[in-house]
Amino acid sequence: MSTPPGPGPALPSDRMPSDRLPQGDEKRTAVRAMFDTIAPRYDLVNRVMTFGLDRGWRRRTVRDLGLGPGSRILDLACGTGDLCRELDRAGHRPIGVDLSFGMLQAARTGAPLVQGDLLSLPLATGSVDGAVCGFALRNLVALEPFFAELHRVLRPGGRVALLDVSQPDNRVLRAGHQLYFNRVVPQVGGLLSDRAAYAYLPRSVSYLPPPAEMLARLTGAGFERVERAQLSTGITQLITATRAA
Ligand SMILES: C[S@@+](CC[C@H](N)C(=O)[O-])C[C@H]1O[C@@H](n2cnc3c(N)ncnc32)[C@H](O)[C@@H]1O
Repeated sequence: MSTPPGPGPALPSDRMPSDRLPQGDEKRTAVRAMFDTIAPRYDLVNRVMTFGLDRGWRRRTVRDLGLGPGSRILDLACGTGDLCRELDRAGHRPIGVDLSFGMLQAARTGAPLVQGDLLSLPLATGSVDGAVCGFALRNLVALEPFFAELHRVLRPGGRVALLDVSQPDNRVLRAGHQLYFNRVVPQVGGLLSDRAAYAYLPRSVSYLPPPAEMLARLTGAGFERVERAQLSTGITQLITATRAA
C-alpha cells in the first residue's frame, strides 16, 4: 500500500458553488473541502437525517457482499468509518480509503485508513476480495475511472457493494421524499452543521446516471451478476456485482 499524501490545506466549504454543479478538478477540490468542514458533526447529522435507517442499510451492504469472514475488503470513501465498523463486526479485514483528511481524522474505527482518491487507488492489482462504497458515487468526478479502478484492485470473483441515495418509484412517495430531501435536509443540516454542504447534498443527486445506465456501465467495466436493490421504499439503492474472472 502506498503512503498517504497527508493533509492538504484547509479550504472553506463555501468553495462549493451554489448556482451550479462543479465539474472536474473544481469538483474534487470543493468536495474535499466540504467534507473536511462537516467531518466533526457528520455522524450526528447522518443519524438524525436518516432516522437511524442508515445502520440497517450498512448491515445489508456487508451481508450482500456474500464474502466469508476474514476477507480483505476495502471501504472506499470510508468517511468516518461506519462501513469499516460493520465489516469488522462481520469478521472481515477492512481497509478504509478517503480523500478528506478531516473525515479520516474523525473516523472511529480500528481499521487501517489511507488518504487517497478513488480514481487512482493506492493498492496493488488483484489485492482485495471485495469493496464497499457508501454514499460517495455522486461525489466523484467521473464513474468510469472509478469502476476501472475497482476492477483492477479486486481479485477475479471479488465482490462489490455500492450504496447510494435514490428516489422511490412510487409517485406519491417520490414527491414526499423530494420535499424532505430538498427542503428539510438543508434546513436541518444548516442548523446542526454547514448550510452550504447540506444544500449541495440534494443537488448532487443529479450527478448519478439513471439506474439502468449505472448497471450497464458496471457491466461494461468487466463486472457480472450486476444487481440493484431498492431499500426503504427506494430512497436508497444497493448495487452489487462480481468481478468477472
Ligand atoms: C457522504 S460521505 C460517505 C462516507 C461514508 N462512506 C458513509 O457511508 O458514511 C462521502 C465521502 O466520499 C469521500 N470522497 C469524495 N470524493 C472522493 C474521492 N475522489 N476519493 C476518495 N474519497 C472521496 C468524501 O471525502 C466523503 O468522506
